[in-house]
Amino acid sequence: MEQAIYEELAVESRLEIEGLFNEIGKEFKGRADELIPMLQRVQRALGFLPEQALLEIARLTRLSTARVFGTATFYAQFRFQPVGRNVIRVCRGTACHVKGSDRILEDIKGHLQVAPGQMTRDGLFTIETVACFGSCALAPIMVVNDSVYGSLKRSRALKLLDEIRVREEGLLM
Ligand code: FES
Repeated sequence: MEQAIYEELAVESRLEIEGLFNEIGKEFKGRADELIPMLQRVQRALGFLPEQALLEIARLTRLSTARVFGTATFYAQFRFQPVGRNVIRVCRGTACHVKGSDRILEDIKGHLQVAPGQMTRDGLFTIETVACFGSCALAPIMVVNDSVYGSLKRSRALKLLDEIRVREEGLLM
Protein backbone atom coordinates (compact mmCIF):
# COMPACT_ATOMS: atom_id res chain seq x y z
CA MET A 1 0.00 0.00 0.00
CA GLU A 2 2.78 2.40 0.88
CA GLN A 3 4.16 2.29 -2.63
CA ALA A 4 0.80 3.06 -4.12
CA ILE A 5 0.37 6.31 -2.22
CA TYR A 6 3.94 7.57 -2.05
CA GLU A 7 6.68 8.79 -4.31
CA GLU A 8 10.36 9.11 -3.40
CA LEU A 9 11.02 12.05 -1.07
CA ALA A 10 13.52 14.76 -1.89
CA VAL A 11 16.56 15.02 0.38
CA GLU A 12 15.38 18.38 1.81
CA SER A 13 12.10 16.76 2.79
CA ARG A 14 13.94 13.97 4.58
CA LEU A 15 15.97 16.50 6.52
CA GLU A 16 12.79 18.38 7.42
CA ILE A 17 11.26 15.16 8.73
CA GLU A 18 14.37 14.36 10.77
CA GLY A 19 14.23 17.82 12.35
CA LEU A 20 10.56 17.41 13.11
CA PHE A 21 11.12 14.06 14.79
CA ASN A 22 13.81 15.53 17.00
CA GLU A 23 11.07 17.79 18.38
CA ILE A 24 8.46 15.04 18.50
CA GLY A 25 10.88 12.85 20.45
CA LYS A 26 10.91 15.54 23.16
CA GLU A 27 7.18 16.27 23.09
CA PHE A 28 5.89 12.69 23.28
CA LYS A 29 6.70 9.74 25.48
CA GLY A 30 6.34 7.21 22.67
CA ARG A 31 3.26 5.51 24.10
CA ALA A 32 0.90 3.61 21.80
CA ASP A 33 -2.02 5.87 22.81
CA GLU A 34 -0.10 8.85 21.42
CA LEU A 35 -0.40 7.50 17.88
CA ILE A 36 -3.19 9.81 16.70
CA PRO A 37 -1.79 12.94 18.40
CA MET A 38 1.56 12.18 16.74
CA LEU A 39 -0.09 11.78 13.34
CA GLN A 40 -1.87 15.10 13.88
CA ARG A 41 1.37 16.77 14.97
CA VAL A 42 3.16 15.63 11.81
CA GLN A 43 0.31 16.72 9.58
CA ARG A 44 0.18 20.15 11.26
CA ALA A 45 3.90 20.58 10.64
CA LEU A 46 4.18 19.18 7.11
CA GLY A 47 0.66 19.43 5.74
CA PHE A 48 0.52 15.68 5.11
CA LEU A 49 1.91 12.35 6.36
CA PRO A 50 4.95 11.25 4.40
CA GLU A 51 5.81 7.57 4.43
CA GLN A 52 9.06 8.21 6.27
CA ALA A 53 7.14 9.97 9.06
CA LEU A 54 4.79 7.02 9.47
CA LEU A 55 7.78 4.68 9.74
CA GLU A 56 9.31 6.98 12.36
CA ILE A 57 6.07 7.00 14.34
CA ALA A 58 6.00 3.19 14.23
CA ARG A 59 9.56 3.14 15.56
CA LEU A 60 8.83 5.64 18.34
CA THR A 61 5.61 3.98 19.50
CA ARG A 62 6.85 0.41 18.87
CA LEU A 63 3.63 -0.24 16.98
CA SER A 64 3.68 -2.28 13.78
CA THR A 65 3.88 -0.32 10.54
CA ALA A 66 0.62 -2.03 9.53
CA ARG A 67 -1.09 -0.59 12.61
CA VAL A 68 0.28 2.91 12.00
CA PHE A 69 -0.59 2.92 8.28
CA GLY A 70 -3.96 1.28 9.01
CA THR A 71 -4.87 3.92 11.59
CA ALA A 72 -3.72 6.82 9.43
CA THR A 73 -5.64 5.63 6.38
CA PHE A 74 -8.77 4.95 8.45
CA TYR A 75 -9.29 8.60 9.35
CA ALA A 76 -10.37 11.03 6.63
CA GLN A 77 -8.54 13.89 8.40
CA PHE A 78 -5.15 12.54 7.31
CA ARG A 79 -3.51 13.25 3.96
CA PHE A 80 -0.77 11.28 2.24
CA GLN A 81 0.22 13.69 -0.45
CA PRO A 82 1.54 17.25 -0.19
CA VAL A 83 -1.14 19.91 -0.36
CA GLY A 84 -1.08 22.89 -2.71
CA ARG A 85 -1.15 26.41 -1.36
CA ASN A 86 -4.77 26.65 -2.50
CA VAL A 87 -7.20 23.83 -1.85
CA ILE A 88 -10.13 23.71 -4.28
CA ARG A 89 -13.06 21.67 -2.98
CA VAL A 90 -15.89 20.80 -5.33
CA CYS A 91 -19.13 19.39 -3.98
CA ARG A 92 -20.31 16.13 -5.50
CA GLY A 93 -23.54 15.87 -3.52
CA THR A 94 -26.84 15.29 -5.30
CA ALA A 95 -28.03 18.91 -5.32
CA CYS A 96 -24.72 20.14 -6.69
CA HIS A 97 -24.47 17.28 -9.15
CA VAL A 98 -27.91 18.10 -10.57
CA LYS A 99 -26.77 21.69 -11.03
CA GLY A 100 -23.62 20.73 -12.90
CA SER A 101 -20.84 20.31 -10.31
CA ASP A 102 -19.54 17.28 -12.23
CA ARG A 103 -18.90 19.46 -15.28
CA ILE A 104 -17.22 22.10 -13.12
CA LEU A 105 -15.00 19.39 -11.66
CA GLU A 106 -14.11 18.07 -15.12
CA ASP A 107 -13.25 21.59 -16.29
CA ILE A 108 -11.02 22.16 -13.28
CA LYS A 109 -9.28 18.81 -13.67
CA GLY A 110 -8.56 19.60 -17.29
CA HIS A 111 -7.47 23.15 -16.54
CA LEU A 112 -5.06 22.18 -13.77
CA GLN A 113 -4.10 18.77 -15.18
CA VAL A 114 -4.55 16.95 -11.87
CA ALA A 115 -7.07 14.55 -10.39
CA PRO A 116 -8.86 15.02 -7.06
CA GLY A 117 -6.44 14.40 -4.20
CA GLN A 118 -3.45 15.58 -6.22
CA MET A 119 -1.39 18.76 -6.15
CA THR A 120 -0.39 20.66 -9.29
CA ARG A 121 3.31 20.49 -10.19
CA ASP A 122 3.81 24.14 -9.27
CA GLY A 123 2.39 23.50 -5.79
CA LEU A 124 -0.33 26.10 -6.24
CA PHE A 125 -3.44 23.92 -6.19
CA THR A 126 -4.87 20.75 -4.79
CA ILE A 127 -8.31 19.58 -5.91
CA GLU A 128 -10.60 17.73 -3.54
CA THR A 129 -14.18 16.56 -3.72
CA VAL A 130 -16.69 16.75 -0.87
CA ALA A 131 -19.83 14.69 -0.38
CA CYS A 132 -21.94 17.72 0.68
CA PHE A 133 -21.12 21.06 2.26
CA GLY A 134 -24.55 21.21 3.88
CA SER A 135 -25.54 24.33 1.94
CA CYS A 136 -27.41 22.65 -0.89
CA ALA A 137 -29.57 25.73 -1.60
CA LEU A 138 -26.40 27.35 -2.98
CA ALA A 139 -25.67 24.50 -5.39
CA PRO A 140 -23.40 24.08 -7.20
CA ILE A 141 -20.75 24.97 -4.64
CA MET A 142 -17.00 25.22 -4.80
CA VAL A 143 -14.88 26.23 -1.81
CA VAL A 144 -11.47 27.76 -2.37
CA ASN A 145 -9.50 27.64 0.87
CA ASP A 146 -12.06 29.26 3.24
CA SER A 147 -14.11 31.13 0.63
CA VAL A 148 -17.42 29.67 -0.51
CA TYR A 149 -18.62 30.19 -4.10
CA GLY A 150 -22.26 29.23 -4.54
CA SER A 151 -24.51 29.08 -7.62
CA LEU A 152 -21.25 28.76 -9.49
CA LYS A 153 -21.03 28.97 -13.26
CA ARG A 154 -18.44 26.90 -15.14
CA SER A 155 -16.79 29.96 -16.62
CA ARG A 156 -16.55 31.64 -13.20
CA ALA A 157 -14.85 28.57 -11.68
CA LEU A 158 -11.98 28.65 -14.18
CA LYS A 159 -11.71 32.40 -13.94
CA LEU A 160 -11.31 32.11 -10.17
CA LEU A 161 -8.41 29.71 -10.62
CA ASP A 162 -6.72 32.04 -13.08
CA GLU A 163 -7.17 34.96 -10.70
CA ILE A 164 -5.53 32.98 -7.91
CA ARG A 165 -2.64 32.01 -10.17
CA VAL A 166 -2.06 35.62 -11.20
CA ARG A 167 -2.16 36.72 -7.56
CA GLU A 168 0.25 33.97 -6.46
CA GLU A 169 2.67 34.68 -9.28
CA GLY A 170 2.56 38.35 -8.36
CA LEU A 171 3.56 37.46 -4.81
CA LEU A 172 6.52 35.43 -6.08
CA MET A 173 7.88 38.27 -8.22
S1 FES B 1 -25.04 18.76 -2.40
FE1 FES B 1 -23.57 20.33 -2.56
S2 FES B 1 -23.82 21.44 -0.73
FE2 FES B 1 -25.16 19.78 -0.50
